[in-house]
Amino acid sequence: MRKPIVGISMKIYKNYPDELINYVERLMEEKSILDEIDVFILPSMGTLYPIANIINNSSLMYGAQNIAPEAKGALTGEYSVESLCNIGGTVVEIGHAERRQIFNEDDEMIAKKVKLACEYNMTTLLCIGEDQKLQINERKELLKKQLKSNLNLVEENHLNKIVIAYEPVWAIGKDEAASTNYIHSSHKIIREILYELFQEESYSIRIIYGGSVSAQNSARILDNKDTDGVFVGRFGHNVDNFIEILEQTYSIKGG
Ligand code: PGA
Repeated sequence: MRKPIVGISMKIYKNYPDELINYVERLMEEKSILDEIDVFILPSMGTLYPIANIINNSSLMYGAQNIAPEAKGALTGEYSVESLCNIGGTVVEIGHAERRQIFNEDDEMIAKKVKLACEYNMTTLLCIGEDQKLQINERKELLKKQLKSNLNLVEENHLNKIVIAYEPVWAIGKDEAASTNYIHSSHKIIREILYELFQEESYSIRIIYGGSVSAQNSARILDNKDTDGVFVGRFGHNVDNFIEILEQTYSIKGG
């Protein structure tokens, strides 16, 4: 039985702690939801520390949108998983489409980050997805290549820390998410690939969907056995909308 998980990324849309204080306070009031569902927020890097201070003593999880591939060393401008640990963060997002495309992160770099995040006991959110709509066979081939290379360095006993955020790149930043059939068929493919790679050990890995998720489309996305949650962006930046998504998750998956 996998625990449902729903998260939100602020990317760099909200860069003043004041813009997020009320947001996280509202989320922390949702105690019965937070008991049943893993809920996380990924503030922009510059607001992470002040927001962490507010969240302390709540089961609302928080973390970083990226980490350096090493915990220490000569990596100017990077953020260390050690700093995240130090402020009580428990989630790391790795390999988002924007990191891959704009910052040229390759599969090898992503594999190192995934391994490191797992070693620091982080809930490790690995983002994968194809650039354009593909038929099932081609999609499977591409997702398998990504999963195989990105999870290449993970120890078997860390697999339960992994959450796969399936985010078709063509559905990020749009008005509407991918179609229900498309998402569910991809999640089924991902489950099959994970089984091929790790057999029974793969059952603990959660799979969620991201890409233009909103309070209007989350119920149709969540209504599927292979789908363990959603990863929300712009349409959750209003806290009421994000709470609505959490409530839908709770009624479909939790309780
Ligand atoms: P979006 O972002 O919901 O704003 O499309 C999702 C994401 O990039 O994870």
